[in-house]
Amino acid sequence: MVDDPKRKPLIVPAVLLLLSSFQAGDTDRLSEHHCTDFQTANFLRGSKLKVQFLLFTSSRPSCGELILVGDGIKNCSFNSSLETKIIIHGFRALGTKPSWIEGLVRAILDTSQVNVIAVDWVYGSTGAYPSAVENVTPVALSISEFISKLLALGVSGTSIHIIGVSLGAHVGGLVGHFHGGQLGRITGLDPAGPKYTRASPEERLDPGDALFVEAIHTDADNFGIRIPVGHIDYFVNGGRDQPGCPRFISAGYKYLICDHMRAVHLYVSALKHSCPIMAFPCSSYHDFLNGRCLDCVDPFLLSCPRIGLLEQAGINMKKLPKEAKVYLMTSPSAPFCVHHSLVEFHLQKKRNKVTSIEITFYSNSTKDTAKITIPKHQEMGKRLLAHRVPLCQVNSVTLKYLPKNQFWRKDESSIVGKFCAASLPLDSTLTMSCLPWNLTLLSNTDISYELPAACA
Ligand SMILES: *[C@@H]1O[C@H](CO)[C@@H](O)[C@H](O)[C@H]1NC(C)=O
Ligand SMILES: *[C@@H]1O[C@H](CO)[C@@H](O)[C@H](O)[C@H]1NC(C)=O
Ligand SMILES: *[C@@H]1O[C@H](CO)[C@@H](O)[C@H](O)[C@H]1NC(C)=O
Ligand SMILES: *[C@@H]1O[C@H](CO)[C@@H](O)[C@H](O)[C@H]1NC(C)=O
Repeated sequence: MVDDPKRKPLIVPAVLLLLSSFQAGDTDRLSEHHCTDFQTANFLRGSKLKVQFLLFTSSRPSCGELILVGDGIKNCSFNSSLETKIIIHGFRALGTKPSWIEGLVRAILDTSQVNVIAVDWVYGSTGAYPSAVENVTPVALSISEFISKLLALGVSGTSIHIIGVSLGAHVGGLVGHFHGGQLGRITGLDPAGPKYTRASPEERLDPGDALFVEAIHTDADNFGIRIPVGHIDYFVNGGRDQPGCPRFISAGYKYLICDHMRAVHLYVSALKHSCPIMAFPCSSYHDFLNGRCLDCVDPFLLSCPRIGLLEQAGINMKKLPKEAKVYLMTSPSAPFCVHHSLVEFHLQKKRNKVTSIEITFYSNSTKDTAKITIPKHQEMGKRLLAHRVPLCQVNSVTLKYLPKNQFWRKDESSIVGKFCAASLPLDSTLTMSCLPWNLTLLSNTDISYELPAACA
């Protein structure tokens, strides 16, 4: 803001320049006074919830403006002609501000002209988890009252999007429930599992809570819920264990929280990067990895859902499916997004043992691998390969036959067959690009080929 005048053309008269620089300075000083941060509960669980609503806008994305609900919402920078995103955090064991709030607020404001409201219920969310759960209903009531005031200003319910993290997802569900399921959208970022997996749909996030409800699951075997709770439920890398997260308890707090927090980091990343984080409907992650779900025809009528802010996640249909499980892989670090390709190997001759082939896609800067397993007495094996650049940027593919050499019985020293690949979602013709000859793969030997796929 202060450097605004510098960006103005040089022809602006010096007086004006001076004037505007004073004004910029003034508002800046004012805004410093008016910025409000999250509270810290310091382990002391108060009897009051002390819910705060902090407004963030594009003009001051790092300055929270405290909205005093009693005064009405008119006297602040809330713009009722814009959409509104309401962020609700979850359980705060230590009573501290969530570390990801600023990143999420910034990522939203950098991509869209909206009002962002962060709900601070740190006081109610600290202490022991069960007491935070007890506070879910009173917090949801207080947020609902707040939303009613927005509606009274002429804000439309459909323009309200709640983003709830962990326990905050169920708070959001309850808020949506109190508004008859008529709010625009709820996004649950790894909705909390403990105390909610067996709860009734009224008590937890469910598809009836908003016109569009989506959930991103990243820790379904621990802090997250394992059942689908939205119209669309993303089970990222199967929804349980995330690549890049420590697998051993010796990693301490990071081990505990990494999978659960991945949903937030993935969401922020999806807002910041243009590469599509696309997912595919399937009955299980196992089936997905084994290439049994290759498009989005059923139930999405061809449009695959994408994590991010696209309307209805980019799916183009009037009557939404419910609790549709969709699957995707990610890379271990931001921006997380990968492209999924089906890779297939067809043996010239069936074998009486399992055949394993390692497939590696190379681009100028990436190397991504998957293993095809061909069951015994079968001709073909397939697998999904997650690669970080689009298929058309993959320069070469390397195949390696991994024989099962047991010391009493040597496997064959080579196999012959055909290799094919196709990028997901497969189109209706199911066309694959194949290397146009019978490949001979020698045991444990890399053989590289150029992949005949061109960028459109
Ligand atoms: C709110 O209204 C009061 C009284 O009209 C005014 O003095 C004050 O500056 C306003 N505050 C904001 C943030 O606009
Ligand atoms: C509210 O947002 C609209 C749309 O971007 C804009 O035209 C208008 O000037 C804004 N109003 C205020 C008071 O900033
Ligand atoms: C990869 O490197 C080659 C040779 O340096 C270059 O011609 C090509 O454009 C690069 N491809 C990509 C996708 O960066
Ligand atoms: C590859 O093998 C298949 C099956 O044995 C055979 O029908 C086909 O003619 C071979 N193709 C080439 C190009 O050698």
